[in-house]
Amino acid sequence: MAIERTLSIVKPDAVAKNVVGEIYSRFEKNGLQIVAAKMVQLSQEKAEGFYAEHKERPFFPALVEFMTSGPVCVQVLEGEGAVLKNRDLMGATNPAEADAGTIRADFASSIDANAVHGSDAVESAAREIAYFFAEDEICPR
Ligand code: PPS
Repeated sequence: MAIERTLSIVKPDAVAKNVVGEIYSRFEKNGLQIVAAKMVQLSQEKAEGFYAEHKERPFFPALVEFMTSGPVCVQVLEGEGAVLKNRDLMGATNPAEADAGTIRADFASSIDANAVHGSDAVESAAREIAYFFAEDEICPR
């Protein structure tokens, strides 16, 4: 399987719960290396730009408000099949439907505050990584 990169975000609810380390540990124990990472407070403009494809959805204003409600941790994960592997570790968007043992089943409380984001394809990963990181901020290993 090809080595891929994917963008991951630990959302404000999970940062507030102090589970960043536990989530990072799941990545590392499952073959995903953290090759870039930072904690940031998203501005409204930055959050709106990140979720621009969803701007007509009814949940868009609440999503932007939530993502700007506190700091987030943004990281680039690298590994074999990283995009799908991260999505598997995250679990379903709605934590009520997420498989036992996934990050969302264990740490998320609702579809609005669902602990983590992960790119859904290699192409969107490239765009999302470039949205947050300059090339010289990524440290391949
Ligand atoms: S969809 O329906 O497939 O386009 O949705 P999806 O790509 O899975 O999720 C869109 C992002 O919006 C967040 N979000 C919600 N989705 C659906 N319903 C509600 N009420 C909702 N509230 C927020 C969802 O978590 C996705 O964000 P990310 O950051 O990608 O997880």
